[in-house]
Amino acid sequence: MNLIKMLAAPVAVLSLWAASVQAATDAEIAERLKPVGEVCVAGQECKGVATAAAGAAGGGARSGDDIVAKYCNACHGTGLLNAPKVGDGAAWTARADAKGGLDGLLKSAIAGLNAMPPKGTCADCSDDELKAAIGKMSGL
Ligand code: HEC
Repeated sequence: MNLIKMLAAPVAVLSLWAASVQAATDAEIAERLKPVGEVCVAGQECKGVATAAAGAAGGGARSGDDIVAKYCNACHGTGLLNAPKVGDGAAWTARADAKGGLDGLLKSAIAGLNAMPPKGTCADCSDDELKAAIGKMSGL
């Protein structure tokens, strides 16, 4: 009789332990079975994809700062190849005056100019994004 009592407690503990191990395993399996990608339906909220979609649509999702940091700063940060430097207001104003303002600078940025590559290497930049980047660099 006593033996059964003595065994009952450890068995109860053991079964609790087994249940919790099972729970952890189920959670792990669920995690492993999670889909790699998710399908997003247009018009419905879909986390993580919104930014990419907005960027692809060229809706001005990226700020001038982002574009400059990612694409333009490589040359314009240091004045590499005689690029007008970020923040060098005089250099940018002289160029803007020669080209007919910010829109004129935008045109030559899109087309490229000598060592300045077309769109400043940001091939998927919209005109607005480029203009924002030029505005940031020139202060115009
Ligand atoms: C590979 C280097 C390089 C990169 C990257 C670059 N530029 Fe330039 N950029 C130049 C150089 C060099 C000039 C000067 C060209 C000249 O006057 O001969 C220039 C000039 C310009 C001008 C003045 C054009 C004019 O008509 O005077 C604008 C505007 C401009 N860049 C915008 C940008 C923007 C916006 C980006 C980023 C999206 C960018 N650049 C990235 C090298 C670069």
